[in-house]
Amino acid sequence: MTAIFITGTGTDVGKTFIAAGLIRTLRSAGRPVGGVKPVATGFDPAALADSDTGILLAALGRPSTLAEIERMSPFRFAAPLAPDMAAKRENRSLDFDALVDFCRRAIASNNGTLLIEGVGGVMVPLDERHTVLDWMAALDLPLLVVAGSYLGSISHTLTCLDVVARRGLAIKALVINETPASTVPMSDTMATLAQFAPDIAIVPLPRLSGAATGDGAFEKIATLLG
Ligand SMILES: Nc1ncnc2c1ncn2[C@@H]1O[C@H](COP(=O)(O)OP(=O)(O)O)[C@@H](O)[C@H]1O
Ligand SMILES: [Mg+2]
Repeated sequence: MTAIFITGTGTDVGKTFIAAGLIRTLRSAGRPVGGVKPVATGFDPAALADSDTGILLAALGRPSTLAEIERMSPFRFAAPLAPDMAAKRENRSLDFDALVDFCRRAIASNNGTLLIEGVGGVMVPLDERHTVLDWMAALDLPLLVVAGSYLGSISHTLTCLDVVARRGLAIKALVINETPASTVPMSDTMATLAQFAPDIAIVPLPRLSGAATGDGAFEKIATLLG
């Protein structure tokens, strides 16, 4: 039984895309897999299938019903903002202890690989005192870190790796997900990161379209996750 926390250098770097690809890969290998996206912002009940949770449910082969979404994403907020701000807009606050409890229960009841998608980047505030980093540290799970290949990503990525290491969290894999129209070649980004983070397994994921499967990238990541 394995649980992996999927985080990244920021929003829109590909956490959901990669979680869904991993779920499909593990399922087609006949391996039991589950997924949760505990905190969802920008949540629109009129577009359930388009939400991160809906995308993970589709990969899991389950329907995007409200009941399924509520089970996978109990902390939902309408505003497309960081969770602390999105909650404030609704005169609410995210209950950090309840969030950690929810994840612990999901981990305990999982009998395969459980993928937990975080929210935004590693230092996104969840409430007035906690960030995603505190959430990951409370769970003490190994991480899958997703980064882009845009100009500036190397600094964002090394900053992310540094704060994660300071909290003693283990990284199973760092995925460099190709940023469309980036001026920086993937291979250069990979080479530089390998120089500065020699102990971390780094996997490139090209921009995919249609039925493309990423030249075995998802299989490689799945193997690294164990
Ligand atoms: N490697 C890729 N190939 C094609 N589309 C991708 C890839 N990675 C991400 N995307 C697309 O980019 C957008 C942002 O990715 P997403 O997984 O939602 O990011 P995050 O979960 O980190 O916010 C989505 O529309 C997603 O389908
Ligand atoms: Mg996402």
